[in-house]
Amino acid sequence: MKRVLIADLKPGMLVARTLFGDDGTALLPKNTELSEPDIGKLRQLGIGSIYIKDSFVDANIPEVVTINVLANLAQDLKTSLANLSAEKTVDINTLKMGASQLVDDIGKNRHLLPNLEDIHTYDDYLFFHSINVAILSVMTGISLGLHKGDMADLALGSLLHDIGMIMIDPAILNNQEKLTPQQIAEIQKHPEIGFNILHNGYEVSATAAHIAYQHHERFDGSGYPRGLREKQILEHARIAAVADTYHAIITDHPYRRAYSSSEAVMIIKKLTGTHFDPDVVEAFLSNIAPYPEGSMVLLNTGNIAQVTMVDRLRPDTPVIQLICDQNGQILKEKFEIDLRQRSEVAIARPLTKNESDLISRRIKPLNT
Ligand SMILES: [Fe+2]
Repeated sequence: MKRVLIADLKPGMLVARTLFGDDGTALLPKNTELSEPDIGKLRQLGIGSIYIKDSFVDANIPEVVTINVLANLAQDLKTSLANLSAEKTVDINTLKMGASQLVDDIGKNRHLLPNLEDIHTYDDYLFFHSINVAILSVMTGISLGLHKGDMADLALGSLLHDIGMIMIDPAILNNQEKLTPQQIAEIQKHPEIGFNILHNGYEVSATAAHIAYQHHERFDGSGYPRGLREKQILEHARIAAVADTYHAIITDHPYRRAYSSSEAVMIIKKLTGTHFDPDVVEAFLSNIAPYPEGSMVLLNTGNIAQVTMVDRLRPDTPVIQLICDQNGQILKEKFEIDLRQRSEVAIARPLTKNESDLISRRIKPLNT
């Protein structure tokens, strides 16, 4: 499996991961044989790249949330965001139900690690970001041993943490230039706006509403809007803060490309104790594979390999498939190594997104 830029797509290539539309339906299901109109549609939608099957790894990545639960929640959230923008009311009970289903589903799939390096257009950022932050928050909450009732609040609050963004002028949000201090101040109003919408307009718990209010507070008191510190910040909001930042880092933005998971983990670790609560970060990172399935790594042997399977209990020693020899030449044969059983072979470092893209371009896609 590899990520292929839209400009490099050819008819006949096989889709390796289902691409979802912004209403939660499958735009291009897995195993679709790409046609010229499909490629045209992707270009029109402004999608940057998709996952294509190649002759190396066909990682069958299991998802932590079942597709039906995700699709229903996506649809409900999409309707809610549209209604809010149109100054109509939101069916909060449906969203509460979706958030509870998310908690149940993730609880059942505890043996899996999330793979969130999904691809979408920036216009849908708020929507995809909200769902992914909810998933990451719930996983972290489970690791921290939060009670069931707390988990439902955590899921709903994380899902709606950026709801205040709806009221911020889109011209500021889509601005690709450096923001002026006034524009920054405008954007920084979104936690309080979100809190007011949820607290005054709907029957949601104070906890869920405070996640929206406090998700930009920092552990050392340097955050906004109130400069709360340490335990003054609700634990749920401390969790959502880490999930929010991590997901923003691994996502493409108009002003910069996405970082890989391993790069994001390093950034989160650096901000621990200043931006983030160390206990929350520890719980969060126990849910993030340092080398996720589909990512590329450099081995101590000098070979480059792609990760095909991660064991949640031993995430540092995944099963890998060799891609390049020591001279950087693409191998002709498939060769898999289970690092749990080969202590002399180890991962030296993950490849950066740019390095992975360069290698990906040289691997032959699988045509039908
Ligand atoms: Fe935010």
